[in-house]
Amino acid sequence: VSLAGRNTFRVPARAAVMADVGRADALEELFGFAMLRDGPVLVIGEGSNLLFVDDFPGVAICLTMARAAILRDDGDSVLVRAEAGMNWNDLVAWTLARGLCGLENLAMIPGTVGAAPIQNIGAYGVEVGEFIEAVEAFQRDTGQVKRLPAAECGFGYRDSLFKREADRWVVTAIELRLPRRRELRLDYAGVREELAAMGVDAPRAVHVAEAISRLRTRKLPNPALLGNAGSFFKNPVVDAATAEALQAAHPGLPVFATAEGERKLSAAWLIEACGWKGFREGDAGVAPQHALVLVNHGQATGRQLLDLARRIAASVRERFGVALEPEPRIIGARFDPA
Ligand code: EPU
Repeated sequence: VSLAGRNTFRVPARAAVMADVGRADALEELFGFAMLRDGPVLVIGEGSNLLFVDDFPGVAICLTMARAAILRDDGDSVLVRAEAGMNWNDLVAWTLARGLCGLENLAMIPGTVGAAPIQNIGAYGVEVGEFIEAVEAFQRDTGQVKRLPAAECGFGYRDSLFKREADRWVVTAIELRLPRRRELRLDYAGVREELAAMGVDAPRAVHVAEAISRLRTRKLPNPALLGNAGSFFKNPVVDAATAEALQAAHPGLPVFATAEGERKLSAAWLIEACGWKGFREGDAGVAPQHALVLVNHGQATGRQLLDLARRIAASVRERFGVALEPEPRIIGARFDPA
């Protein structure tokens, strides 16, 4: 079965079997089949965070249930449940249309609701984990759907329990606790300027979502037009002393403090400084508008994109002594060659 239309890099890849699953309670029976019980299983949402370097040797499944509902209205805040197959931005719009805030900074992130907690999607100073009350996930070793409160989900920067134990879990739904009012988060570079350009001086959550959609449209290539999976590398986290030394040597390098007292460096800046922005070899390249985004101009293979990513990481390591880690899930290869 071809997976070329099931990944936003649009690279060729195949799976032995591809199954669309419309009900969480079908998973128990499905995983009773030997092929799924004993073999490799890959869950694909919209395929916007995957790089296929090789065919997938097992069963690929896609969850298609896509309903959202209000579970409980507590006045100041509301508990919303959304199923894994729903498009993420559709859920953002659904919550904003009901007067709920929280997800406005996460507007226009590609992918499904089920994928959102796996890498704890984040943008413009907000991560989805801040609003998650619980995640419902099918646990392969017990054959049951389990409800995990946020504290058990192990959320970190682009990280969670579901990412660390990807073979064990199939996320089936999420529950979000969303306030009716909150202080909007506008500090991230460009947001206030965009609101001003829109002529909005008393912004509400819908305006923030609109401003961020405009920023993303300008800054990131649209995967429907040019194959890509968003940021290809995570922003590297280093200790404060390392960050200070780097910034002393390279005054332009953007550095952000993390909640844990460490420092996050701009991977895009490091990559651009090594001359990669807009680079192209064959059909594998780096987006001209953002150095952190690898792109497929048409016929690139996953192997070619991986080779390019490794060359980029090697040059950043050589010039700055900083290791870059890939952000999308890579199927069929390890990023660091053993
Ligand atoms: N920059 C450059 N060159 C570039 C692009 C950016 O030097 O080509 C520098 C600029 O100084 C800019 C800074 O990097 O101010 C930050 O750039 P940007 O605001 O685009 O954010 P980012 O750190 O590169 C992260 C997320 C994005 C998210 C944006 C906005 C990661 C790995 N990426 O990128 O998430 O949209 O912040 O919040 O954390 C994704 O994960 O796929 C993704 C797109």
